[in-house]
Amino acid sequence: MINLKSQQEIAKMEVANRIVAEVLQEVKKHIQAGIETLELDNLAEEICRKHKVKPAFKGYRGYPKSLCVSINDEIVHGIPSHRRLQNGDLVSMDFGVCYDGYYGDSAITVPVGTISPEAEKLLKVTEESLYAGIAQARVGNRLTDISHAVQTVAEDNGFSVIRDFVGHGIGRNLHEDPQIPNYGPPGQGPKLQAGMTIAIEPMVSAGGWEVKLLDDGWTAVTKDGSLSAHFEHTIAVTDKGALILSRI
Ligand code: MF3
Ligand code: CO
Repeated sequence: MINLKSQQEIAKMEVANRIVAEVLQEVKKHIQAGIETLELDNLAEEICRKHKVKPAFKGYRGYPKSLCVSINDEIVHGIPSHRRLQNGDLVSMDFGVCYDGYYGDSAITVPVGTISPEAEKLLKVTEESLYAGIAQARVGNRLTDISHAVQTVAEDNGFSVIRDFVGHGIGRNLHEDPQIPNYGPPGQGPKLQAGMTIAIEPMVSAGGWEVKLLDDGWTAVTKDGSLSAHFEHTIAVTDKGALILSRI
């Protein structure tokens, strides 16, 4: 069942998501060779304390930290640790908070120092695929118009879309209906309506789309070891098109 949100509810989600965006931008400033990913997690938590909001991922299904930091072939759900970032790494960071009962969720991928031309292209194309998906999030379209737009951008550029993870509805819960695959034929699924709030989150690999789970039970990596990137925004569908909530 898809929960439509009122203006008041969307306003609360806007606050939550703006804090998420602030955290990601602040953490991004600290991305450099030599920093431990745990330091990034600490920084994210500190900003949450300042705003008196709860990090959404910590404890979610037992996830141990607040931030997800996924490096190179890691796709999503990388757990912050004493691992230090190195020049040339491609780093995806995913973060969420809960403010006054409403959730925000967003992800960005950033380079550490100088990255390969392939990594540069992957980063650019993955973000572009997110915006292509967002552009389809209009009243009257159907859900998989988003999915198809994401897939088209990724594959037209020679990359593949990770199929084991999906975008999702969001609001009073981090994950609500509907699920939003990042691939598939257009024109299927529920009609998009004003008041839907969804997180669109393409994960794109420079190689194949098959996934492997590491022994920590969380970190998903590409089976073939290829690079992966991830971008995510929480948006509201409105009569005037998609409103991106997770930006400052
Ligand atoms: N953006 C991811 C998602 O929607 C983040 C979840 S991380 C978890 O699934 F730790 F909370 F699982
Ligand atoms: Co999400």
